Amino acid sequence: MRLDANGIRYMSADEFRVLTAVETGSRNHDIVPTPLIRSLSKLHGGGLNKFIGELAKKNLIAKVANGKYDGYKMTYGGYDYLALKTLTKRGSVASVGNQIGVGKESDIHVVMQENESECVLKIHRLGRMSFRNVKNKRDYLKNKHSSPSWMYMSRLSAMKEFAFMKILHQHGFPVPVPIDQNRHCILMSLIDAVPLRQIEKVGDIGKLYSDLMDLIVKLANYGLIHGDFNEFNILIKIDQSPILIDFPQMVSTSHKEAEFYFNRDVDCIKTFFKRKFGYESYLYPKFGLDINREFSLDLEVAASGFSSKLQKELEEYTQIVKESGEGSEEEDSDEESENDEEGNSDEENENEESLEDPDKSIPEKESDKEHFEL
Ligand SMILES: Nc1ncnc2c1ncn2[C@@H]1O[C@H](COP(=O)(O)OP(=O)(O)O)[C@@H](O)[C@H]1O
Ligand SMILES: [Mg+2]
Repeated sequence: MRLDANGIRYMSADEFRVLTAVETGSRNHDIVPTPLIRSLSKLHGGGLNKFIGELAKKNLIAKVANGKYDGYKMTYGGYDYLALKTLTKRGSVASVGNQIGVGKESDIHVVMQENESECVLKIHRLGRMSFRNVKNKRDYLKNKHSSPSWMYMSRLSAMKEFAFMKILHQHGFPVPVPIDQNRHCILMSLIDAVPLRQIEKVGDIGKLYSDLMDLIVKLANYGLIHGDFNEFNILIKIDQSPILIDFPQMVSTSHKEAEFYFNRDVDCIKTFFKRKFGYESYLYPKFGLDINREFSLDLEVAASGFSSKLQKELEEYTQIVKESGEGSEEEDSDEESENDEEGNSDEENENEESLEDPDKSIPEKESDKEHFEL
């Protein structure tokens, strides 16, 4: 799912109200019934259907019939629009440029700020894989009323990454500068560097190896393990110093599997240096011996708003998706029957109530003729 900024450049205030209503309705409904969209948007005239039609044509919402009623669900296009709209209103983004990366669960774009400086927009896209394919979803659902929505999970993932980036940056770790976050999007500084996997020659290989191992140890001394410390998530600057990116899987050194994650990060570097550069060292950090906790950034992150309850929810979801075996990705349009199957569209989603509404209120109606430019 690519970010489409062109087709949606202009939107009337009424369409925007309807789109926001669909988002609000999505908190409690997998498929938002049309009457609910009507009441949330407070558009009581005959215009509603026209605005709904316009939004559907632009692929910002999609019509779904679940057997019981007709309704609409937000698409990634619609959610992207709302996030970008908010980031633009705040003055964080002025225009969207090239896509520079696409991961399994994210899209990365260069964007321009009002002062014309370039930065990076990372759009989290969890749940591209249909929850229908998750084998033990019934266990997962036992204590929950509804399947976790891609909107909620992507937002959690972005919040987590932003919270960690902020704390790491404040404590002087080599990470991008966190700029802003809304919904499933985060904004950070553009790093002028190349991913480690693309580096062919290193001046002082021993130094780079020990810089990276030191970084793993320093993180652990601060109470954290990256969890995905590999050649894709380490950018190397021209002076050969590393910058660490991509934090949605970070865990605390107090996590029950901490030693496993720590060793896996260390092994990633050992294996890569051996394979790519033929470099081996008998020196590498050991969890029990080399870690002396000095700070508790794990607790700071929890205190900063990304609570351990939210971390647990995200971890549980990620774990289940992993266990169910990746590789069965599905696009939005296939997800519809998932809702029928569980028959849970009307249920409250407790998860979603634990978070603030990203943009709170539906806009007032006075500004009817206003047009929004992305
Ligand atoms: N701040 C940044 N500056 C420059 N390039 C970046 C930045 N963030 C991400 N990238 C590029 O995008 C790629 C994917 O980013 P990453 O955060 O690792 O996403 P994913 O979660 O999909 O792996 C990186 O390997 C890197 O090439
Ligand atoms: Mg990555």
